[in-house]
Amino acid sequence: MQRIGGWLPTLLCALPLLSAQDKDQWWKHALFYEIYPRSFQDTNGDGVGDLKGIARRLDYVKTLGANAIWISPIYPSPEIDFGYDISDYVGVDPLYGTMADFDGLVKEAHGRGIKVIMDLVLNHTSDRHKWFVESASSKTNPKRDWYIWRDGKGPGKPPNNWQSVFGHSAWKYDGKTGQWYYHKFYAEQPDLNWWNPEVRRAMYDVARFWMRKGVDGFRLDAITTLFEEKDLRDEQALGGTNQYGDPMIANVVTDNLPEVHEVLRELRKVTNEFPGRVLIGETYLPNANELRKMYGEHNDELQLPMDLQVGMINKLNVDEFRTKINDAETKIGGNIPLFVFDNHDNPRSWNRYGDGTHDEAIARMIAAILLTSRSVAMMYYGQEIGMVTTPPTRKEDVKDPVGITGWPKDKGRDGERTPMQWSGAKNAGFTTGTPWLPIPDSYRRVNVVAETHRSTSLLRWYERLIQLRATNAALRDGEEIMLNPDDSHVLSWLRKNADGTSVVVACNFSYEDQKFTFDLKKQGVAGTLGTILIASDGHTGDAALQDVKLAPFGVFVAQVK
Ligand code: GLC
Ligand code: CA
Repeated sequence: MQRIGGWLPTLLCALPLLSAQDKDQWWKHALFYEIYPRSFQDTNGDGVGDLKGIARRLDYVKTLGANAIWISPIYPSPEIDFGYDISDYVGVDPLYGTMADFDGLVKEAHGRGIKVIMDLVLNHTSDRHKWFVESASSKTNPKRDWYIWRDGKGPGKPPNNWQSVFGHSAWKYDGKTGQWYYHKFYAEQPDLNWWNPEVRRAMYDVARFWMRKGVDGFRLDAITTLFEEKDLRDEQALGGTNQYGDPMIANVVTDNLPEVHEVLRELRKVTNEFPGRVLIGETYLPNANELRKMYGEHNDELQLPMDLQVGMINKLNVDEFRTKINDAETKIGGNIPLFVFDNHDNPRSWNRYGDGTHDEAIARMIAAILLTSRSVAMMYYGQEIGMVTTPPTRKEDVKDPVGITGWPKDKGRDGERTPMQWSGAKNAGFTTGTPWLPIPDSYRRVNVVAETHRSTSLLRWYERLIQLRATNAALRDGEEIMLNPDDSHVLSWLRKNADGTSVVVACNFSYEDQKFTFDLKKQGVAGTLGTILIASDGHTGDAALQDVKLAPFGVFVAQVK
């Protein structure tokens, strides 16, 4: 690769040092657990989750085995985009509690060895943020240039054809000053102008504020969208219309611009002022090469850009899984990937991968892929108990505005944001009031209490996988090598550790029973027997690696003897 050239001597000296330091970094082996605060645990009966609720459930997070929580935004916000429209970056919205509650939560989490990751929304603020209010007040206001204001092409005509991710033009006209402002997301989320150094400084200070409070890192929201080309050229029309009835256009001049990397390097320097902090990125990218760039040419940008490619394949295709996992293991410059299957923006993996008949078996398989790969893992609350996507059935019930714009083709994101199902009690133990989103009836069966008591539950499956991942040397540190590359039914791989420990994993992606032989010859692994670490058929003890039987969507994980 190009970057090696002139840097080779320096790199060679720096490498052993770097890797020694890096190996000890907590995030390298972390399991991040995303908490959507509105939906986790309510403690004051208003039907919306809060910080005290999160604190109350930390023991659960600990028992599950997660070592970090990522809390979606809890800052003051008009809640148009449920917290992603921030009106004050250094406060806590009373809906969620107080700053004292926040400090208490960090203390309680740290006391249990759980790190706390905040959501940092850099691309845009709320239109109620004082910066935007000032910016909108006059063309000569000192904050005018903090946002992206432009003249239209004529009366009622926006500056160009750019569209919001949430539908329709990305420009909103403001009568007071006769100009348009740009918003990649909702109109209530005006984009900041990241070309302006004052904006950068202000946001870096926000990051410092929270790190001083003890937070362990940030998940950078929509980080690829910081910059737009200055000359405002139109995006290319692609033909056809999208789910909002808008013309399909490319997403080239307003996304993933090279300047993003400059900001990431600056931000990394800021976080480096506070040892042990981590930067995670929301990075929807087309391929591993683009993902690799997010770590930085000199590994000086994000430590953990999310790999949203493996998790969002959205069909059980062995070849695609094999290729994408292999890419993540081999094409990102030796860095560690961060796999994500579930979050608050996409239907739950239960529904994206499930077939309606084998849903639970498939969910176990997804869990195995996530937790036995050489990757940092990210989970979303409720994934571990098999919560389902519950989209609104009537337009008038929709909370997420995009579901109103897109109805009925796009029902928005309410479905994956329903409250955590803690127990079979009223409202699943989430609230004593009326939950802000409805809880599906299946909660009576699918809940933490019930699954804790059932040894064969999905929750217990997750717990065991998480424990193995943390304790088995090969699962913890071993490289990942895909096996049996021509098999179109079974996805299998080897985790091979420098200390000689090897673990093999096989997942049956088919509707038929499969007899399977691990092809280990080329990998220099001699053993033909394995000690089962976990298997979906419940078997334990030793098994012959040439003769593994897998039920439909069955999983087999064994340490080679
Ligand atoms: C990210 C968030 C999403 C939000 C958007 C705008 O994609 O995950 O929930 O709507 O950014 O902030
Ligand atoms: Ca509450």
